[in-house]
Amino acid sequence: MGNTFNSKTGETLEKTELKNDLLLRAARGMKTERTPVWLMRQAGRILPEYRAVRNSLSGFKELVETPDLAAEVTVQPVDILGVDAAIIFSDILVIPDAMGLPYEMVEKVGPHFPETVKSEADFKKLRVAEPGELQYVYDAIAKTIEKLAGRVPLIGFAGAPFTIFCYMIEGGGSKTFSKPRKMIAQRPDLAHRLLDMITESTIGYLRGQIDAGVHLVQVFDSWAAILDRQDYADFALPYLDRITRAIDGRVPVTLFAKGANFSIGDLAAIPCDTIGLDWTVPVDFARREAGDKTLQGNLDPTALYAPGKEIVKKTRNMLEAFGGHRHIANLGHGVYPDTDPEAVKIFVNTVKEFRYENT
Ligand code: CP3
Repeated sequence: MGNTFNSKTGETLEKTELKNDLLLRAARGMKTERTPVWLMRQAGRILPEYRAVRNSLSGFKELVETPDLAAEVTVQPVDILGVDAAIIFSDILVIPDAMGLPYEMVEKVGPHFPETVKSEADFKKLRVAEPGELQYVYDAIAKTIEKLAGRVPLIGFAGAPFTIFCYMIEGGGSKTFSKPRKMIAQRPDLAHRLLDMITESTIGYLRGQIDAGVHLVQVFDSWAAILDRQDYADFALPYLDRITRAIDGRVPVTLFAKGANFSIGDLAAIPCDTIGLDWTVPVDFARREAGDKTLQGNLDPTALYAPGKEIVKKTRNMLEAFGGHRHIANLGHGVYPDTDPEAVKIFVNTVKEFRYENT
């Protein structure tokens, strides 16, 4: 089993037997007939078909932990929206869960951790996740690969250590994440100790996903923007670098540090393949900073609230700005939950019909 595609040498592309490998070729900087497109958070959130499956269960966690159903909702956006990739239905919070800090998903509120890491004593509760503990995700991946039958690649993912650290200390969402930042300010040694454990857990987890068959992995650093450039360099980048190196080119790696526009150049020094951009980043600026990396993004998710004609115009403007190469079309963050699936189809179809003339 498994996928031995090496992004450094390009070996074994043919062995993946994918009918549509636009995403993988674009990630590796190869020329493609057109720009590939998918959406962050495309599985769940917006589709009534997802709600139907979800409402038949006790909650989000049961869906994540039931491989047959997780595979079903993973494939829905490929069938319904026509995207060029699937992303495995799971959550970044399965890592703290496997490390000994379980999460709850509270309806209409979001994630909540009944216990958090407050002091050194709390480390007694924690362990580096055994990759086997996340077997339900690998099973969901294997089932998804079967269901996709080579139609499009499957993306695996994890949260970046800094973002997971934020949740484990804060215990849920926050505007300021002052608790994790307080630990950084007062006990940088403890912060590094926890970041190190999360990193080791994440490496085992992403390797498990690759062994199970994912074709590319994305690391989400959703809360990157709350740090300044120096703290990001000290408390986030070294861990992203370690994770990327541990994957060792087996599959392409995308790093998405939302809002960390100050760090695009620093991220580009990590041997990843693709850098994700939010909608606030000017494309010419990102190109200068990111060197020859492929870029992913970056339409404002609220553009999908506009009338259809406007969506087409905004999407084409974005595609023009990226210049038709080394680009994976996406939104600048996850699709917002109240977005009309029809608006998403307009976005997807506009990308699929677009040809950049000047290449
Ligand atoms: O992209 C996909 O469609 C695959 C599945 C996926 C989910 N979460 C499913 C989910 C992915 C890639 C994630 C990543 C994730 N989870 C991130 C990073 C990306 C980002 O948006 O910045 C973060 C920060 C989380 C943590 C999380 N999970 C939050 C804050 C919430 C509540 C609000 C929300 O809907 O995002 C979740 C719940 C969650 N994760 C849902 C889904 C479909 C909704 C829960 C439900 O169905 O009730």
